[in-house]
Amino acid sequence: MDFEKRILCIGAGYVGGPTMAVIADKCPGYRVELVDISEERIRRWNSDDLPIYEPGLDEIVKRNRGKNLFFTTDIPRAIAEADIIFVSVNTPTKTFGQGAGQAADLQYWEKTAREILRHSKTDKIVVEKSTLPVRTAEAMERILNSRREGVHFEVLSNPEFLAEGTAVEDLLDPDRVLVGCMNTESGRRACEDLEAVYRHWVEPSHILRTNVWSAELSKLVANAFLAQRISSINGISALCEKTEADVDEVSRAIGFDSRIGSRFLRAGVGFGGSCFKKDILNLVYICRQHGLEEVAQYWEQVVRINFWQHDRFVSNMISEMFNTIAGKVMVVMGFAFKANTGDTRESPAIRVVQRLVEECACVRVTDPKALGNARRDLEGVEYVSFYDDPYEALEGAHALALVTDWACYRDLDYRRVYQLMEKPAFLFDGRNLLDHEALFDIGFNVYPIGKAPLRHLTVK
Ligand code: NAD
Ligand code: UGA
Repeated sequence: MDFEKRILCIGAGYVGGPTMAVIADKCPGYRVELVDISEERIRRWNSDDLPIYEPGLDEIVKRNRGKNLFFTTDIPRAIAEADIIFVSVNTPTKTFGQGAGQAADLQYWEKTAREILRHSKTDKIVVEKSTLPVRTAEAMERILNSRREGVHFEVLSNPEFLAEGTAVEDLLDPDRVLVGCMNTESGRRACEDLEAVYRHWVEPSHILRTNVWSAELSKLVANAFLAQRISSINGISALCEKTEADVDEVSRAIGFDSRIGSRFLRAGVGFGGSCFKKDILNLVYICRQHGLEEVAQYWEQVVRINFWQHDRFVSNMISEMFNTIAGKVMVVMGFAFKANTGDTRESPAIRVVQRLVEECACVRVTDPKALGNARRDLEGVEYVSFYDDPYEALEGAHALALVTDWACYRDLDYRRVYQLMEKPAFLFDGRNLLDHEALFDIGFNVYPIGKAPLRHLTVK
């Protein structure tokens, strides 16, 4: 079959996979291909056991795979044949050398640029999908256009705003699609071409065009603002615990103000995920590079408060359990960084388990989708065991710490759980997910976030 356009995405991860699956679904006339250096990932994309879990993704992949959606490790051929190349490789925080712990590690991205250069024989539009420091497109253009053989590369910034767990929904109905281009004739033409892809299903009024630097920076700033709201409400949750105010009531009251808005004000054990921390630290690094120390410190505090919130959660467990949890069975319910994903990158649960183990507790971890990643994250950590069945995990447990807001945890039979546990039974709800009064009535000592604890003075 002759395809109208050939789209390639380099990096078949949490962003590349779902994004390309949706493009293939909505643009049947395009050939959409994904490549990755990980043979294992590509093998799984071609199997019934996809490498990532996202609600709705299985069906879309299976519907289009082999028709106009392809997964391969043949990077040279795929680059040579593509008209538009999305780059969606990982850009983690640098762990070595200059900027270690803050700057973005651009080695994967730079290798990709060089691969594109090596294998291209025709003009290409190269789209930055990964989250990158502002002005990265300039470096991309310089690398790509360093060889003068009549091949022209136009670099666009098209950051992705999907959230895990709702990736398919977010891609199908995005708040906005942002496209940043150079203010040149060829830049504007490339922008038209990319926008035409999205216009297959996104309203033109939701497609925003900016200059490249604004697009790159907007992605970092959007994540910083979202994370800032969470740290703000988490900071207030600590004050609520001291004053008998209820953080959910405060969130609701301020969220009714249309200028503030109600979303992203859920207090909890702190944010996780692969991006918030890394992107804010990258923003902080860039501010420092430009001599903006006050701005850097302001954003750095968002990450500090988050770490403090993880630790505060565990410190509270220890102090409420008579200042010793050595030898006690502590069940960590949920290991994914949020519900509806198996992703555990930067999950608060990692820090919680580490702290519990430091106190010599016996930790049992349960999660409906993330146990594979949890085993890998906690490899070699002693006194940790893993359970598919939460009831099995809770047998003989001294405490239950709810760390991920999986809806299935709301539906557990808590009378049965109470019967299974040691008494007094402690329940720490790190997501304010459960019905605290009902749990208290069953007999639990209940510790929400940002609300007064419900303690029994005598055991029921
Ligand atoms: P990921 O680690 O899941 O996927 C990246 C993939 O790129 C990996 O499979 C890796 O093997 C592959 N890769 C690395 N170098 C390569 C190379 N030279 N050639 C081919 N493949 C290569 O990462 P992700 O979560 O998909 O994130 C990708 C980018 O998107 C990051 O910059 C991230 O900040 C950004 N982002 C992520 C999310 C999210 O929800 N995860 C949302 C928006 C933006
Ligand atoms: C986030 C952004 O929401 C996406 O727009 C962005 O594209 C993505 O980062 C990225 O760049 O990677 P994601 O991390 O997948 O998406 O998930 P979120 O829904 O933002 O949740 C992040 C963390 O914040 C989770 O641990 C979640 O539990 C926590 N959270 C969220 C709260 O503690 N309270 C809230 O009110 C909302």
